[in-house]
Amino acid sequence: MPVVLGIESSCDETSAAVVVDGRDVRSSIVSAQVDLHARYGGIVPEIAARAHLERIQPVIAEALAEAGVGFAELDAIAVTDGPGLVGSLVVGVMAAKSLALVHGLPLVPVDHLEAHCTSAAITAEASPWPAVALVVSGGHTSLYLVRDPLAIELLGQTIDDAAGEAFDKVAAILELGYPGGPVIQKAAEGGDPRAVDFPRKGPRSGPFDFSYSGLKTAVLYHVYGAGQKYGSVAHLSARQIADVAASFQAALVAPLVRRTLAAAERHGVGSIVVGGGVAANALLRADLASACERAGLTLHLTPMAYCTDNAAMIASRGDDLLRAGVRAGLTLEPRGGLVRRRKTRRGRETHP
Ligand code: KG4
Ligand code: ZN
Repeated sequence: MPVVLGIESSCDETSAAVVVDGRDVRSSIVSAQVDLHARYGGIVPEIAARAHLERIQPVIAEALAEAGVGFAELDAIAVTDGPGLVGSLVVGVMAAKSLALVHGLPLVPVDHLEAHCTSAAITAEASPWPAVALVVSGGHTSLYLVRDPLAIELLGQTIDDAAGEAFDKVAAILELGYPGGPVIQKAAEGGDPRAVDFPRKGPRSGPFDFSYSGLKTAVLYHVYGAGQKYGSVAHLSARQIADVAASFQAALVAPLVRRTLAAAERHGVGSIVVGGGVAANALLRADLASACERAGLTLHLTPMAYCTDNAAMIASRGDDLLRAGVRAGLTLEPRGGLVRRRKTRRGRETHP
């Protein structure tokens, strides 16, 4: 029963967790930075990196203490090596490399998105694989085919903005605050999702791709009017703002549900897993649930604690990879940006 310390610092959460046997989460400490970035309406990379640096050591110490585990009891250290903000990633990667070196532990590199894909398995009663995985967050909107945890294939992704990013930008346009998802969801409660006819089609680039910059622009034009004659939302009533929020949310969710279901049908899998911060969205959850019921598919919604960025999913994924013989050397470097491997290779994968 491997005991794995997971470390995550790819975006704006500093997190460490101890997971035994891939599923038994003994501790999961997440230090979020929402308060630091809120007044800028988005994540400021330099501020995120500095906060990681201050927090990483106490967060790791707390995860070990809460689990009642010392370094001597660990079997490996798993760390997110990408994708993400490079200045943030480097903090976690450096911490993991130092600890692995000092304590003589194997270092396991974990792809952040693959960890989101497999996070539903931490709490699922039965194995959800094979499944189509929808990862929908502030930085990513992607569909994967997960045949098993060692065979993950990217089917499609957003060609521009991520769904969470669209929520955040539209919330800024509507002057509702940050992060955008929860405030749009709240504002939409009193609105009519059919009031405004925003584009609901996915892009033509691929059957499982997504695109949200057009939707965001459509909201911008709708709110500011032709020729952008208004500079704010002051001319809209509370009811009109609720209608825009509800119509936007419905237009964003529709292609997510349609294309996720289409991917399951195309690949003949019986289950769908959903992870990432936007999986908190009530409309997305409800629409996916009814679509899956109609199609006879099993839906595994990742519990919220493992949807937003967390190190438990990194340690759990690290367990899978550890067993498969995946190791990184001390030359491991963070992979910044949004790029990722299109396919996980089976078996040993040694970083230079
Ligand atoms: O996964 P996450 O915590 O961070 C990363 O992007 O990795 O996701 C954060 C995103 C934000 O864009 C936020 O607006 C969105 O998740 N979000 C939601 C909801 N709660 C959070 N979006 C829609 N509805 C929600 N209830
Ligand atoms: Zn994430």
